[in-house]
Amino acid sequence: MRRLAAGNWKMNGDGAALAEVRALVASHPDPVCEMLLCPPATLLSRAAGAAAGGALALGGQDCHPRPSGAHTGDVSAAMLREAGATYVILGHSERRADHGEDDALVAAKASAALAAGLIPIVCLGETEGQRDAGETLDVVAAQLDGSVPDGAPPDRLVIAYEPVWAIGTGRTPTLPQITQVHAHLRARLCDRFGAAGSGIRILYGGSVKPDNAAAIFALRDVDGALVGGASLRAADFGAIVAALDAA
Ligand code: 13P
Repeated sequence: MRRLAAGNWKMNGDGAALAEVRALVASHPDPVCEMLLCPPATLLSRAAGAAAGGALALGGQDCHPRPSGAHTGDVSAAMLREAGATYVILGHSERRADHGEDDALVAAKASAALAAGLIPIVCLGETEGQRDAGETLDVVAAQLDGSVPDGAPPDRLVIAYEPVWAIGTGRTPTLPQITQVHAHLRARLCDRFGAAGSGIRILYGGSVKPDNAAAIFALRDVDGALVGGASLRAADFGAIVAALDAA
């Protein structure tokens, strides 16, 4: 499988930030891994223009489950596709928290994304309270079961494990803790998808930085990263891409 370094700009970035897109594309003309940035929807088509001819793919950060209609403020999967996206992040914990998104809605969005030709990156992860209560494996398994739609093609599906308490905090799970959750998700995917489950990419996300990326990428069943803050600067994200290429 081709591993994936994905950046999530969240609600950050304006026209001036396109300089970072250009710098990243110029510094990584031919990465071994797949390189993806998910800027805000307002920047998507301009980022696609800035990335044209390079090795950088683009993605959205959310989509509506319906293809079109009276849904003020929402963006459809087909709209993202037309703007230059090939991926879309779905079910990020910030959307689950800010907008009350549940597993069923995330699964519906993933179906819509697949129908529009996008690859969904389905996010899941436990809160700190859930980890302290020893519930992590049960929580992520239930999220995986509920958020991935039946019939999702394994080769067009990405899972991102992002512990909520590690996002934007500078804290990460220990390496054995990451390994344990990824192994659990892998087993669950193989139960559901058979042998093809071993080819589904499972990303780790939560305070991935240039200085911890190599250790995380060396772990079994870590097939890349979903990076927030460190994806905003081409130098930092490029260093993470290089670490994945070297792993
Ligand atoms: P940070 O890398 O800023 O912790 O964010 C992770 C994340 O939420 C990516 O989706």
